[in-house]
Amino acid sequence: MKKIIFTNLLNPISWEKAEYQKEIYITIEDNIITSIEKEPQCFLTTIDDMSDCVCYPGFIDLHTHIYQYDIRGSYKNNLLEWLNNYTFPEEIKVSNTDYAKCIADKMIQNLIYCGTSTACLYSTIHRNAFEIAVNKALKFGLRTIIGKVMMDMNSPAQLTEKTQQSINESIELYKTFDNITNLIEYCFTPRFALSCSFDLMQKLGQYIQNISPYVQTHLSENIDEVKSVKTYFQNAVSYTDVYNQAGILGPKTLLAHAIHLDNTELNLIKKSRSSIVHCPDSNFFLKSGTFNLNKILEYQIPFGLGSDIGAGTNLYMPYHARMMIYRQDNFQINPLNAFYSFTLGSAEALKKSNQIGSIQPLKFADMTFVKQDITYTNPEEIVSKLIFTTNPTDVKKVIVNGKTIHEKD
Ligand code: GUN
Ligand code: FE
Repeated sequence: MKKIIFTNLLNPISWEKAEYQKEIYITIEDNIITSIEKEPQCFLTTIDDMSDCVCYPGFIDLHTHIYQYDIRGSYKNNLLEWLNNYTFPEEIKVSNTDYAKCIADKMIQNLIYCGTSTACLYSTIHRNAFEIAVNKALKFGLRTIIGKVMMDMNSPAQLTEKTQQSINESIELYKTFDNITNLIEYCFTPRFALSCSFDLMQKLGQYIQNISPYVQTHLSENIDEVKSVKTYFQNAVSYTDVYNQAGILGPKTLLAHAIHLDNTELNLIKKSRSSIVHCPDSNFFLKSGTFNLNKILEYQIPFGLGSDIGAGTNLYMPYHARMMIYRQDNFQINPLNAFYSFTLGSAEALKKSNQIGSIQPLKFADMTFVKQDITYTNPEEIVSKLIFTTNPTDVKKVIVNGKTIHEKD
């Protein structure tokens, strides 16, 4: 099916640069963008007039927890207390299938409502909840990279799996759901070093050695967490080295937070070609510390932005870009940099920039239309308005994989 949209296109080019094309025609055939032109390619197809909006590549959320949607705003000023008081009790409730359906429904619909077209999701340890999440993503049409959480130690009994069972279930889900359609990819999800035994992580490392699937985990978010990791894993020289020794770093590994790292850890990450996910809203909320953006840029480690619900408070990626800019006291960051971090930069972190992250012929037709003042012509100004003045109610249409999945007047 061919679709033509008349709109104003804002495309990221690099960390420093974006391009604006006013009043152009974007042609979509099935799920792929086929042309971007000044004149419509075909006069027989009806043209969708979105000229009162700016069209952006669909927003990418590199890290969020589907079943933490309802604990947003439950406040503690440190990670471990917050996990024990709010997060783990909430995740225990997800063993109830009806409850899981209700939360997954809300979360996936809100991701889309906020203009997100691709989300990297943590489920919980529950197999049912994982399958419910996949079905909701398929039902609503969200591009999703998702995994069942793995936890085999140091956690409440109801959230503790047997090591081999955790491995077996994750492998089974990977084999069943990875690429079940081109919207769903499986992501092995050992929660973080403090809830995973070295045995579990090493078994996972051995399994993924030759198949290179996605892996997501948390790294070095909080000072007490880092200290605790050092006492649990005395054979490792650092937090990052735990993951390195287990064999779970690699080009498709996503490391959330990565705040308190030394240079040897940054070198390990760089060498493994792993990516980092910066979650500034969550870091403010839990008083986790300041992401060393300067260092991450110096080491040229790919990174993007994550909403990290429920320590993060909302799902609107331009808001997280705003938080990213506010977070940096000593580093010059401009709106174009932050925009890149939830579009093409995130696609690069996913090693998927040939498929998503900008609107180009041959990429997937994933796009987000935002109603905003279209009298501006400077890309930096347009993106700045997006980041500092818009909110989810301004998202007028979301297209994922060529299909309109959200639309309002
Ligand atoms: N570290 C381990 N689990 C979590 C989680 O659910 N949220 C955050 N922010 N950090 C974590
Ligand atoms: Fe998280």
